[in-house]
Amino acid sequence: MKKATTAHLKRLQLVKPYLGRLLLGFLAMLVAAGLQLAFPKALSYFMDNISENNTTDWYTLPAILAFVGFVLYCIASAVRFYLFESTGGMIVRRVRERLFGSIIKQEIGFFDTTQTGELTSRLTVDTDMLQGALSMNIATIIRSVIVGIGGLVMIFIISPLLSGLVVLSLPITLALTRWLGKKARLKAMRLQDSISGSLQTAQESFANVRITQAFNQEKKAIAHYGIAASSVLDRTLDNARLMATYQALSTFAAFSTMLVTILVGGVLIIQDTLSIGELTSFLLYAGMLSGSVNGISAMWGQWMQAFGATERVFELLDRVSESKTYKEGLATADLQGNVEFDQLSFAYPGRKEETVLKDFNLSITAGEKVALVGPSGAGKTTVVNLLLGFYEPSAGGIRFDGIDSTTLDYRSIRDSMAIVEQEPALFSGTIAENIGYALGDPATELDKIQEAAKLANAHNFITGFPDGYHTAVGEQGVQLSGGQKQRIAIARAVIKNPKILILDEATSALDSESELLVQDALNKLMYGRTTIIIAHRYSTISQADKLVVLEKGELVQYGTHEALIENEEGLYHKLVMNQIG
Ligand SMILES: Nc1ncnc2c1ncn2[C@@H]1O[C@H](COP(=O)(O)OP(=O)(O)OP(=O)(O)O)[C@@H](O)[C@H]1O
Ligand SMILES: [Mg+2]
Repeated sequence: MKKATTAHLKRLQLVKPYLGRLLLGFLAMLVAAGLQLAFPKALSYFMDNISENNTTDWYTLPAILAFVGFVLYCIASAVRFYLFESTGGMIVRRVRERLFGSIIKQEIGFFDTTQTGELTSRLTVDTDMLQGALSMNIATIIRSVIVGIGGLVMIFIISPLLSGLVVLSLPITLALTRWLGKKARLKAMRLQDSISGSLQTAQESFANVRITQAFNQEKKAIAHYGIAASSVLDRTLDNARLMATYQALSTFAAFSTMLVTILVGGVLIIQDTLSIGELTSFLLYAGMLSGSVNGISAMWGQWMQAFGATERVFELLDRVSESKTYKEGLATADLQGNVEFDQLSFAYPGRKEETVLKDFNLSITAGEKVALVGPSGAGKTTVVNLLLGFYEPSAGGIRFDGIDSTTLDYRSIRDSMAIVEQEPALFSGTIAENIGYALGDPATELDKIQEAAKLANAHNFITGFPDGYHTAVGEQGVQLSGGQKQRIAIARAVIKNPKILILDEATSALDSESELLVQDALNKLMYGRTTIIIAHRYSTISQADKLVVLEKGELVQYGTHEALIENEEGLYHKLVMNQIG
């Protein structure tokens, strides 16, 4: 409980930069609450005056005052509403930016086990819950407190005896509030989890829609989503039942109190110790008081709901990244391109029991071209993942220019590296933006982009499009062919002018002309750079100075193609005979 309270207080710190705005809203609220409190008193004055004087001569001044009061009330309410609502929006924007920043910096292993739908749901739906909790709810609670205290004072002034009756009912409401708060928090957390699950299901279906339609599995996808949506409904209903029960109980308590008050009040009027106007205003003030108490109590419930719903947002905000690039105070490197893998062993964090690389040793001198070959699952991509610093080795290490990588700022290492992946990931934007991804402002460096595109044999097909370099590539580059995407990825790597180049070669059958174009582009790109190629095609392997043959995470053969092919018992010979060619 204590821990939870500190966590709530920490969340309230989000409000800090907006205290000025909130204070102004608070002032507007004070004005509105004061006017609201004056209303029953004015009504009582009106009723008793009418029944005593039997004339309307005194109308003018009170009417003008009432009118001015209403206008002020409306303005103050509008100002309060706007200030609190807009502040809520600003707080949510701030949380979203921070949350996004925290997510994008997490280590790659985190993304292996966390689904993107879950993350986007945290970023959108969950943070929305904060908006209400940190703005309108605070406003309503403060207003309720002011109106409630005012109401309490007023009823005691009018009739201490009747007030005693009203106050007696308060503990019931408080007990109800406690009960609601506890339940609401847990239920909200569950609801948010199922919302995130349904988002994840939808997102994955849309991303894989081509396969779904090709396999005629739309029905399955719909059913899958239906289950997720039903789970959201179940939990929404669960929440609604809780709130409905609470409302019935608290309204019952309020009405019972009201009934007793009216009955006793009637007796007091008969005894002439209370006027009708006084009883009317008493009932209105008592109504304000119980309305406030119920309001605070309901808001408390919603607050707890919001905290339950945002529990995971804050977990994620506070999560410390294990990414190598966020270690402070390390030396920056200006790499020449010498790379050594030293007794490297590795298991993926998501599957610790499986050793993927065992005592891997390899030394590459600057400018050398090394091809990694081996059966599927041998660990070729894993070597590259470790080189890029996506994961921590379980044992051993990597040296750049003889320096242990753990003593270097990995961002500077990545500055000297570029990768062309097997299935290039493009961003929805223009071709120019994608090629210039590593540039600060691609729009101002079109020359550089064109130069890179020419080197990557991409310039001709790009200028063939009506919009040229400003052609949109579509989400993940769906509006381009595989070979076009690859040449854009090559141009994107060219622009970095990397010392170390990583190529995960495409196995997809490009037609011979685009294969030639891609190969030619790669040859130009490799020139003079340390290159690690995951090679499948003989044409690529023949470009390499050395070959590394991997099998089940171990280096089993190393040497030139000519030397390795000689050994007819070796794995390489088999691979060439069976797979490559
Ligand atoms: N993110 C991951 N989490 C857990 N295990 C993984 C992960 N990525 C790969 N693996 C496992 O590690 C082993 C090596 O995979 P890797 O991707 O390095 O193979 P590869 O040699 O590149 O194969 P391919 O030629 O098919 O691309 C495989 O058994 C694979 O199942
Ligand atoms: Mg691979």
